[in-house]
Amino acid sequence: MTSATFETLLFDTNDDGIATITINRPDKLNALNSKVLSELSEAIKTAESDRDVKAVILTGSGEKAFVAGADIKELSSLNREQGEELAARGQSIFSAIENCGKPVIAVVNGYALGGGAELAMACHVRIATSNALFGLPEVSLGLIPGYGGTQRLPQLVGKSKAMEMILTGGQLKADEALRFGLVNLVAESGEAMDEAHKMAGKMVKNGPVAISKAIAAVNASSKTDGFAREAMLFGELCTTEDFKEGTTAFLEKRKPSFKGE
Ligand code: COA
Repeated sequence: MTSATFETLLFDTNDDGIATITINRPDKLNALNSKVLSELSEAIKTAESDRDVKAVILTGSGEKAFVAGADIKELSSLNREQGEELAARGQSIFSAIENCGKPVIAVVNGYALGGGAELAMACHVRIATSNALFGLPEVSLGLIPGYGGTQRLPQLVGKSKAMEMILTGGQLKADEALRFGLVNLVAESGEAMDEAHKMAGKMVKNGPVAISKAIAAVNASSKTDGFAREAMLFGELCTTEDFKEGTTAFLEKRKPSFKGE
C-alpha cells in the first residue's frame, strides 16, 4: 500500500486501491506555490506507477478552499521568460493529471479559483461541496489563466459562458457549476468524499486497461493547440504595469488601479 511522504501534500491509499492526495497549505488556502506543483507532479507519478493504486481523489485541506489559485506572492516577481516557463510547467503537470491512465476525481471543497479551477478542470470528474466557488480571476491581477484554463473551460461550459467567466473574473456557485456542466455532482461537505469513493468504487471494478484507454480516447476528442499560445500570452503579460499593479494590490490587500499599460 502506498503512503508517500510530502511537505505540502498528504497522500494515502485505502484497501480498495483508492489514493487520496490532499493539498495541505490551509493557511494560504492551498495556493499552488512551486513546492506544491513539484510535489503534485511527483504524487501523480507515484499513483500512476503503483499497481495497487486504481483511482485517485484530489482535494484541498480545510473547509474553505480546494485551491485559491497560483501563489500570487510567487507570481508577482516573474519576468516574461519566467512567466512563460511557469505557465508551461503548470500546463505540463496538469496535462499529466488529465492523461493519467487511472481515474482522477477532484473533490472541490470550497474556493477553486485561478490555478485551483484549472487543476479541478484537468481532473476527469469533479464533485463539488455545496459551498464550492469556481472562478478564473486572473484578469483582476492583470493576467490570464496560464495553466490551461482558457483551453479547458470552453470545453466544459461552452465558449460563451467561458468568455463571460474569464473576462469578468466572476465566480460560479456549486449549483450553477452543476448546471453548466463544470461539475458532475454537488454534495454536502460531509458527504463529498463518500460520494467520490462511491464513484471511484464503480470505476475501479472495471478493467484497468480499458479504463486507461477510455481516458485516452475521450481526451483525444478535446486536443487543442492553444496551450502554447496561452503560456506565451501569460509571459507577455508579466511585463506589463497592469500585472505589477494587480499582484501588488492583492498583496497589499487593496483594489487595483489599472492604467492599461
Ligand atoms: N496566493 C497566495 N496567497 C493566497 C492566495 C493566493 N492565490 N489566496 C489566498 N492567499 C492567502 C492570503 O494572502 C492570506 O494570507 P495571510 O493570512 O498571510 O494574509 C490567506 O491566504 C487567507 O486568504 P484571505 O484573502 O485572507 O481570505 P479571505 O477569506 O478574505 O478571501 C479569497 C478568500 C479566496 C477570496 C482571497 O484569498 C482571494 O481572492 N485569493 C486570491 C484568488 C486569486 O486571485 N487566485 C488566482 C491567482 S492566479
